[in-house]
Amino acid sequence: MKTDEAKYYHKIEAVVVGAGLAGLRAALEIAKKGHQVAVITKVYPTRSHSGGAQGGIAAALANSAEDSLELHMYDTIKGSDYLGDQDVIELFVNEAIKTVYEYEHMGVPFSRTEDGKINQRPFGGHSSPRACFSADITGHVLLHTLYEQCVKYNVHFYSEFQVFSLLIKDNISRGVVAWDIREGGLHIFHSKTVLLATGGYGRAFKITSNAHANTGDSLALILENGLPLEDMEFVQFHPTGLYKHGILLSEAARGEGAYILNSDGERFMKKYASDKMELAPRDVVSRAEQTEINEGRGINGKDYVYLDLRHLGEKKIMERLPQVWELALNYLKVDGIKEPVPIQPTAHYSMGGIPANINTEVIRDAKGTVVRGLYTAGEASCLSLHGANRLGTNSLQDASTFGRIAGKNISKFLVENGYEDLTSNPLDVARAKISSLMNGNVGEKHSKIREELQENMTKYVGVFRNEEDMLKLLKILKQLQERYKNVTIDDKGYAYNLDLFEAYEVGNLLSFSEIIVEGAIARKESRGAHYRTGFPKRDDKNWLKHTLAWKTEEGVKLDHSKEPVIFMDRFPPQERKY
Ligand code: FUM
Repeated sequence: MKTDEAKYYHKIEAVVVGAGLAGLRAALEIAKKGHQVAVITKVYPTRSHSGGAQGGIAAALANSAEDSLELHMYDTIKGSDYLGDQDVIELFVNEAIKTVYEYEHMGVPFSRTEDGKINQRPFGGHSSPRACFSADITGHVLLHTLYEQCVKYNVHFYSEFQVFSLLIKDNISRGVVAWDIREGGLHIFHSKTVLLATGGYGRAFKITSNAHANTGDSLALILENGLPLEDMEFVQFHPTGLYKHGILLSEAARGEGAYILNSDGERFMKKYASDKMELAPRDVVSRAEQTEINEGRGINGKDYVYLDLRHLGEKKIMERLPQVWELALNYLKVDGIKEPVPIQPTAHYSMGGIPANINTEVIRDAKGTVVRGLYTAGEASCLSLHGANRLGTNSLQDASTFGRIAGKNISKFLVENGYEDLTSNPLDVARAKISSLMNGNVGEKHSKIREELQENMTKYVGVFRNEEDMLKLLKILKQLQERYKNVTIDDKGYAYNLDLFEAYEVGNLLSFSEIIVEGAIARKESRGAHYRTGFPKRDDKNWLKHTLAWKTEEGVKLDHSKEPVIFMDRFPPQERKY
C-alpha cells in the first residue's frame, strides 16, 4: 500500500473532518487566527449536506417587536421536551444574532423586507417569525459563502478523502488516517487537534431527507475508540418528506401558509395542535400525520397525506418556495401551484451524537472527562442543545455558531499546546479495515446489507416505537453485523474505488444503528421525537436524563446518570402543549 512516502504524511496544526457549515465555520475561525488548518471531506465541500437545508437560520433579530432572546431560549427548551441543556441553549441564543450578521457581512444574499432588513418567516415551534432565509435555499447560500471565505483565508482542503481511523492514545487525540478516494492510498494527518463535524446519519433509514454521504462515519470511529455516543434514540422525522423519496420539502412551505390535508381534505392538525396547527414542532406534526395514515385517512388509503400550497398562489410560491415547487415537479411530476403534493414523515435529523461539553470538547463519560485535543460540532455532535427534539432552523444556527465556538477554542488550544507523538503503527487500524474489505473472496454485497438495514430501521424504529418491534430489529441488526463480516467488493483497484468506500460506510451504519435501537428500548417513556406506544407519557421522575452508550466486548453498555442542566428558576419542566 502506498503509505510510507513523505507525501502521505501531513503535519498540520488543526484537522477538521467534514465540510458542512460546522466544519467550514470552525476552519475559517482557526485560519483567521493565523493557524494552519486542513479540512478533510469525503465530498467536494459545496456538496456537503448543509447545502440541502432550505427554510432558514434562526435568530431573535427582533424584526418583530415581540421576539427576544428569552423567548428563543424558551421555545428551544420547550421544543427539546426539557432534555436540552439550558446553559448550552442560553449560549446558543445569545450568539445566534452575531452569527447571522456575520453571514450578512460575508455577503450572504438573505431575502429582505421592503425596508431592507433581513426577512424572517415563521417556523414550527417558534413563537415569533425568527427564520432568516434566502428563498428556500438558505443552507446552499450559507455553505457557498463560507467556502469562499475559507478559500480566501487559505484553509487547506483535502476533498474526496475518507477518514478511516482516529489516532487517539492515552486519551489524547493525535490526528487521523484518511484514504484518498481519487487516487487511492492512505494519508496520515498528524495534528494537535481534530474536530469531528461530519453531520447526520439519516442514511440508516430508507425514507430520509439526508444525502447519500450522511452515514455517520465519525460516530462509528468514536465507538471503535471505546468512547460513547449520547442520546442516539432521538431521531427527528420531518413531516414533509416527498412521498417515497423522503427528500425534504421545506417547513418554510408551512411557514408561508401551506396546509397539510388528509383523505377527507381536512386540516387535521386542528385535532393535534389547535393553536400552532401546521406550525407545531416536527415531532408533533409527524405523529399526527402517521396517526392519520395508520387510521386509514392517508390519501387513497395509502401511506401519505397532502401538502397543499395552491392557495399561496404562483407568485409567492415561485418567489419564496421555488425549490419546493421544483422538487415536487421533478420527482413526482406534481405541479404544486395546481395540485397538492404527496408527503410522508422522513428521517431528517439526529439530536444525538458525539457527546461534548459547552466548549465543544469531546467527553468520554458522564462526569465530563475530556478527550484532549478532540472536538465536535454540528449535527454529528451532541452538546444537548436540541434535547429530545430540534426546532426547525436551529440546525443551521447550531452548526454555524458552535462551529465558530469550536474554532475559537481550538485556536486557543493550538497556542497553548505542542504536537504529541503519533501513535505507534498509526496505519494499522485503517490498513486492517481496507484489507479485510479488499481481500474477502466469498461473501455478499454490501448494498444488500445496506438495503435491509434501511428497510428495517424505517419499519421498526420510526415515528412510533414498541418493544416487540425493536427487539425484533435488534436481532436483525446482529445478523446483519455477522453477515457484514463476510462482505466482498468487486473492485480491487485504487482510483475511485466507490465499492470499497460504500462497503466501509455500511459497516459504520451498522455500528451506530444498534446504539439507536438499544437506547430506544431502554428509554421507557415518550419524550420529543422518541414515542413509545407502551409508554405514551413523558416521565420526568425516571427519565429526565441523557443516555450515554458504549460498545463493549459484552455488547452495548448504557449509562443514564448524566442529567440535563436545567435553570429551575427560569425554565422548570412543564407539560408541552401547542
Ligand atoms: O424544513 C426545512 O427547511 C428544514 C430546516 C431545518 O431542518 O432546520
